[in-house]
Amino acid sequence: MGSRLIGYGSYLPEKIMTNQDFEKIMDTTDEWIVQRTGMRTRHFAADNETVVDMAAVAAQRALDNAGMTIDDIDMIICATTSPELDFPSVGVQVLGRLGASRNQPAFDVRGACTGYIYAMHCARAFFTAGMHQRIMLIGAEKMTRFVDFNDRSTAVLFGDGAGALIFEHSSSGYSGIIDTVVMADGREFDMLHGTPDHKIAMNGPETYKRAVTCMPEAASYIMEHAGISADNVDWIIPHQANLRIINSGAQRLGFPLNKIIVTVDKHANTSGASGVLALSYALDNDIIKKGQLILYPAFGSGLTWGAALIRI
Ligand code: ACO
Repeated sequence: MGSRLIGYGSYLPEKIMTNQDFEKIMDTTDEWIVQRTGMRTRHFAADNETVVDMAAVAAQRALDNAGMTIDDIDMIICATTSPELDFPSVGVQVLGRLGASRNQPAFDVRGACTGYIYAMHCARAFFTAGMHQRIMLIGAEKMTRFVDFNDRSTAVLFGDGAGALIFEHSSSGYSGIIDTVVMADGREFDMLHGTPDHKIAMNGPETYKRAVTCMPEAASYIMEHAGISADNVDWIIPHQANLRIINSGAQRLGFPLNKIIVTVDKHANTSGASGVLALSYALDNDIIKKGQLILYPAFGSGLTWGAALIRI
């Protein structure tokens, strides 16, 4: 039992914040940001634009892409770390926005930057159990809610946006979400976390060190589990945290850089939205083609990390 991808959509806020814009408001340079992170621009949501607003647009675009309405969807799983309301979930609010009337379930997954892999893990379990026909997976974040413009070491790293994927149950185990693995280590919570006053506390160098080992670890594990090698993988979509982390991980795994989808230069780190946005970008630009196999490693606050194997 498996699934197949039948629709996708994304939303990026209109406002683009460049490195030069940061130069005007803090002690930083385009050169430092590009050299340390590979980031050049990121999208910033408007003050009154919420995670639900962005998620609902991405969800509607995915439905349009699939030629469906919200009542064709049996469940929404939304990966988000930055909802404005503690409750209800973003997923349920998206159902409401899109006028769902079938009482279908929806919930959020809080896995920080690994959130969309955790959401894929849940979706795979439901498909494997044969419990739902069509699941919409959303990744939506307004990370700029947490950005402290007095902290140059984190302010430049994040962006906002949302993406949505629709998977349908399939009798083939070789398409859609083929395999997933998720891990967590709460003992290293201090390395990267939100503060009670909604700021980001991060030990950058330590986070970097763990990211460059955990993502390849999860990628290797899932390839071994699925019985495949790097040669069988068409594309890697790593969590878009930092170009140096992405390149170093690929190098450790022996993947050529031309197999990696990179959007961190344009979107920066959109946390739980990053992998979904990157897939939408690659499909929109005809980079990833039908039938291709994608390896999806991610790492984030928690610590959490994991990987997914997806065939388009
Ligand atoms: N502009 C200019 N200088 C800066 C900036 C900035 N925006 N930010 C920090 N600096 C300075 C520091 O103050 C420090 O100066 P000092 O030597 O005078 O004290 C110097 O640059 C070096 O600081 P480091 O933190 O050691 O820089 P590093 O090379 O580690 O790069 C970075 C920092 C980019 C944050 C890196 O550690 C990193 O990418 N870590 C991973 C963090 C991450 O990706 N987090 C996202 C969430 S988790 C995830 O998604 C994987």
